[in-house]
Amino acid sequence: MRIDVLTIFPEWFGGPFDVSLLGRAAADGTLDLRVHDLRDWTTDRHRSVDDAPYGGGAGMVMRPDVWFAAAEAVWNDLPASATTGRDAPPPGAAFEVGGTRPRTVLLTPRGVPLTQPLVRELAAEPRLVLCCGRYEGIDERVHEDVATDEVSIGDFVLLGGEVAAAALVEAVVRLLPGVVGNADSPLDESFSNGRLEYPHYTRPLAVRGREVPEILRSGDHGRVEEWRAARAEELTRRRRPDLLEG
Ligand code: ADE
Repeated sequence: MRIDVLTIFPEWFGGPFDVSLLGRAAADGTLDLRVHDLRDWTTDRHRSVDDAPYGGGAGMVMRPDVWFAAAEAVWNDLPASATTGRDAPPPGAAFEVGGTRPRTVLLTPRGVPLTQPLVRELAAEPRLVLCCGRYEGIDERVHEDVATDEVSIGDFVLLGGEVAAAALVEAVVRLLPGVVGNADSPLDESFSNGRLEYPHYTRPLAVRGREVPEILRSGDHGRVEEWRAARAEELTRRRRPDLLEG
């Protein structure tokens, strides 16, 4: 799967994506991650990506012209120069340049919640483009005409979309074929069946006076399954009753 990230902090995506299963997915070609510096599509000397809000008020707003130029280039696999300033395509021509528009996700606290069903849907796409905003906000025309999806990773506000994009990439990539060793494990987990996951135990049998529940040592698979289902149900009722309502 190819994932393009648009951000003013491309260096942010160095470390976390070089290690662990993500790094391996990138090395073996399962993940083709391309991080782009949004400032490559600016045209002024200061490489500015933001401006004062129309209507007044505090803070700055990210400029739509820079976002449009960046998205059009990435969608169509063109160099920055092809969609910027003098060489920008005429109005209406932008999506025609190279075919269809890939799924383009704007990370924002006002987006729909990122859930496992949405992650599964995104993991089935051949390409994703992730847009990371900063500052107080992004010009509304970017929300409307660049993004195909607006996604939030929770009811809290981050400084920008980078952490949210990283969370989305990790959740999506672990579902790609071959990334997680055991083919069963991505299914038998929290959220895939609408429940939080049951508790796990391993050796040693006793630690600091705390023993593994007897049932798990009984060898009775039927009772083990029942016990796990009951624990999952109990945990979900206590912590996430909203999941049981659906
Ligand atoms: N940008 C800032 N806060 C965010 C959130 N909670 N989810 C996604 N993107 C964000």
